[in-house]
Amino acid sequence: MKLLIIDDEKSIRLSLQVGLKKLGVEIFTAASGEEGLALFEQTKPDIAIIDIKLPGIDGIEVLRRIRKDNKTCIILMITYISEVRLAVEAMKLGAHDYFTKPFNIEEIKDSIENHVHYIKMKKELCKEKDENYSEIIGVSKQIEEVREIANKVSQMPYNTFILIQGESGTGKEIIAKAIHYNGVRNNKPYVALNCAAIPQNLQESELFGYEKGAFSDAKTAKKGLIEEAHGGTLFFDEIGDMDILLQAKLLRVLQEKRFRRLGGVKEIAFDATIVAATNKNLLEEIKLGNFREDLYYRLNVIPIYTTPLRNRSEDIVVLIRSFIDYYNQELNKNIRGFTEKALAICKAYEWKGNVRELKNAIERIMIFQENEWIDVEDLPPNITADKSIADTAVSTNANLESVEMETVNRALKQNDWNITKTALELGISRLTLRRKIEKYSITK
Ligand SMILES: Nc1ncnc2c1ncn2[C@@H]1O[C@H](COP(=O)(O)OP(=O)(O)OP(=O)(O)O)[C@@H](O)[C@H]1O
Ligand SMILES: [Mg+2]
Repeated sequence: MKLLIIDDEKSIRLSLQVGLKKLGVEIFTAASGEEGLALFEQTKPDIAIIDIKLPGIDGIEVLRRIRKDNKTCIILMITYISEVRLAVEAMKLGAHDYFTKPFNIEEIKDSIENHVHYIKMKKELCKEKDENYSEIIGVSKQIEEVREIANKVSQMPYNTFILIQGESGTGKEIIAKAIHYNGVRNNKPYVALNCAAIPQNLQESELFGYEKGAFSDAKTAKKGLIEEAHGGTLFFDEIGDMDILLQAKLLRVLQEKRFRRLGGVKEIAFDATIVAATNKNLLEEIKLGNFREDLYYRLNVIPIYTTPLRNRSEDIVVLIRSFIDYYNQELNKNIRGFTEKALAICKAYEWKGNVRELKNAIERIMIFQENEWIDVEDLPPNITADKSIADTAVSTNANLESVEMETVNRALKQNDWNITKTALELGISRLTLRRKIEKYSITK
């Protein structure tokens, strides 16, 4: 990253240069507005620190010209306390922050770090939208139902509450994303808070943000996720792990549709579609005193339950198809699919980790796969080890064979044993048909 300092006082340039070295950025300096604008053109910095009072073209004008074609550079202004009025104008023109002389270099450093973090987060959110989003795949009745609810909610401009419950790896997050990206909010922010991943003592400030000075580390103000999500979708992942005191505060915000940043006095309006997900049994958690009953009822306006994969094995075939296509592209391979027997084993397997386990298994298989067709011996040992599965698969295979024999037999009879016609009807070659006749010892 590059940082440009525009200040006519040499001592200030130097102290900024020394103090901000720790950020690990490449630093350029200019002593006048003119020089600064030229250097800006040349170096295209990510961050600029501009003194408001400059000889010639002043800092405000420099800011105005930079902002004309560059909306993304992080710009901080420096001014004397007597000129704070100008700093306010600078903020209106698109500066991110301002500091009065004499400044504390640590504060400037913190402000830069905060803004860089925020921009990265925004970029990641956009990336997530493009790369990480995929359709809800499945043909089972249960998936059809989920898809229908997700569609309805996503098309509705009215913001509501959706609570998704189900085992780990059953697609709760993918449903939350579908609700957002498939509908009327898809150009609005999608913001996720994973309550299990963020330490409980940090959840509140992540969620509500804070004003400068709200606590000893709050050197600059920071927007919280609630504020970021305004107008879009706010996803509370693993809501069962949210701090119990925070649950009460969240409930209040959801009911009043307004909130304050930590240390702030201003009430800020807030409205978004709220999706929450958990693999815990919330009714149990309520009994144990870990989850607030009132919050549960607030969130549970539209309940969605995801079904474990083992109870909708018809989805396994289509999921496998889609993951094979995906990893063929990713790994630049040309795997055709699973053999009937391998597929039968996968359909009978328990998939305790649900779709996540299936997807990971296919990724691992495909990395090592050399043959076009994935067969039983290519499956991970834990999948084939299960004795009952092997038995099911054998009987499934036997079933398949008897169905095949029956089909061939019938087609032959219908076509008066005309091999060409029968092969055409079955969509196989004459050679394959002859082999099948031989294999099953079919006679006229
Ligand atoms: N119906 C589906 N169609 C396509 N992909 C799916 C489907 N369900 C799950 N997946 C994929 O499986 C993986 C796990 O899904 P996801 O993260 O949504 O599960 P989860 O229910 O949120 O799990 P956890 O409770 O562990 O967070 C992801 O890679 C996701 O893309
Ligand atoms: Mg999840």
